[in-house]
Amino acid sequence: MLSQEDVFKKLIAHCKEYGFVFPSSEIYDGLSAVYDYGQNGVELKNNIKKYWWDSMVLLHENVVGIDAAIFMHPTTWKASGHVDAFNDPLIDNKDSKKRYRADVLIEELIAKYDEKIEKEVEKAAKRFGENFDEKLFRATNERVKEHQAKRDEIHRRYVKALNDNDLSELRAIIIDNEIVCPVSGTKNWTEVRQFNLMFTTEMGSNADSAMKIYLRPETAQGIFVNFLNVQKTGRMKIPFGIAQIGKAFRNEIVARQFIFRMREFEQMEMQFFVRPGEEMKWFDYWKEYRMKWHKALGLGDHKYRFHDHDKLAHYANAATDIEFELPFGFKEIEGIHSRTDFDLKNHEKYSGKNLKYYDAELKESYTPYVIETSIGVDRTFLSIMASAYTEEKLDDGETRVVLKLPPVLAPVKIGIFPLVKKDGLSEVAHQIFEDLKFDFKCFYDDKDSIGKRYRRQDAIGTPFCITVDHQTLEDEKVTIRYRDSMKQERVKIDQLSAILNEKVSMKNLLKQL
Ligand code: GAP
Repeated sequence: MLSQEDVFKKLIAHCKEYGFVFPSSEIYDGLSAVYDYGQNGVELKNNIKKYWWDSMVLLHENVVGIDAAIFMHPTTWKASGHVDAFNDPLIDNKDSKKRYRADVLIEELIAKYDEKIEKEVEKAAKRFGENFDEKLFRATNERVKEHQAKRDEIHRRYVKALNDNDLSELRAIIIDNEIVCPVSGTKNWTEVRQFNLMFTTEMGSNADSAMKIYLRPETAQGIFVNFLNVQKTGRMKIPFGIAQIGKAFRNEIVARQFIFRMREFEQMEMQFFVRPGEEMKWFDYWKEYRMKWHKALGLGDHKYRFHDHDKLAHYANAATDIEFELPFGFKEIEGIHSRTDFDLKNHEKYSGKNLKYYDAELKESYTPYVIETSIGVDRTFLSIMASAYTEEKLDDGETRVVLKLPPVLAPVKIGIFPLVKKDGLSEVAHQIFEDLKFDFKCFYDDKDSIGKRYRRQDAIGTPFCITVDHQTLEDEKVTIRYRDSMKQERVKIDQLSAILNEKVSMKNLLKQL
């Protein structure tokens, strides 16, 4: 049985071998935590983005999209709080010279206690069978109580330290709990320091007059500064939302775990502007809607959970994450934040411009409150790939690697094969390709045996393969082979489009929301 770590390594290798994800500028040995998407990766990524965009902008008549520039006036980031407060607490191990996020070291320790508790509960559940009273067990078992008390104490100190911005207390938690460096195994830690995550560059040709500017660490600010432009030109009435997909940049201290934590990544964000006082109603609405969006992909409902924030970001009065079970544990894929009027108020203050909204119904002007949904494209990509990657033992003893991607998101929808190149079969297969290519991303392949061609399509997650054989010339039927079941059926060529459309239609997916 493969460990989750091995599965993850295999997935990374698979992503490279089959044109999904490559290390950036690989011929120069790559650039840490920066990746390129290959020919299949970009298709999957575009499909994810389309699913998100359509769910927001098509399905909500009060949500519109924009595409703001990455570079913004530097005062934007002063107003947003990122210049002063977009920091991670870092700590170095003096022996290994490795750098860590102090908060992550502590969170991992808390997660270890949670795991220990769950293991005790699982063991007991097996032992007691149907008579098991989990609540009673948790409340009375000495070992569980001990772990829980320890966990709660660390958690209490941790939340207080974060909220007080107390860096020496963060270090004290690490020392008191004897957290060691995973590389050197020692407790020889430096002090904890704050590290700003924004990349900077300069704009202007003259060194004296060049202006320091930032690469945006979130796309959201491009929406805030355009709030009134969109509201006025689109004659939008509150409540309404502005959606955007775009690149964001963060100089992450610890950039590990493949495309989970990158220095250049892509976000899909939506700011929903509401009346002050109505924000919790909308926070709950978007929380549920976003979870539905994830679950509709069919990766398994049990792989998702909400996780409320221990420490609220400088702009939020409520926040939760949607976490997904990756091979290295439950991790954040999306954040849903109630950002109050923090951003708009500060942009008013720093720009000196009036950003208030006149509510004709209430006959008053106010600064709207904002609910934000913010999801990483790359993390969504990783969650889908991680749950799709499957190694299956076949009846003939061979193993097939198959990506069980949701068909609607698969990079290639249909593989089209002539059984042999001769006897006019290629011509028929080419004609099918020509007919279907307007609606579906197809791939024509006439090399190697049919079995090998199926395997190649399995490996990139193509849900359907169509084979043209000699019989086709007589009955105008082809064989469709289904990726997951490997079942085959013969259907009329002129029915292909309707059959396939039913199975890969974005509309059917969106209708579930
Ligand atoms: N505007 C709010 C915001 O940016 P966030 O929780 O910092 O909130 C939102 O980021 C999402 O962006 C995360 O849930 C994650 O999916 C993605 N994300 C953040 N940092 C990332 C990184 N370094 N690499 C990949 N994705 C990242």
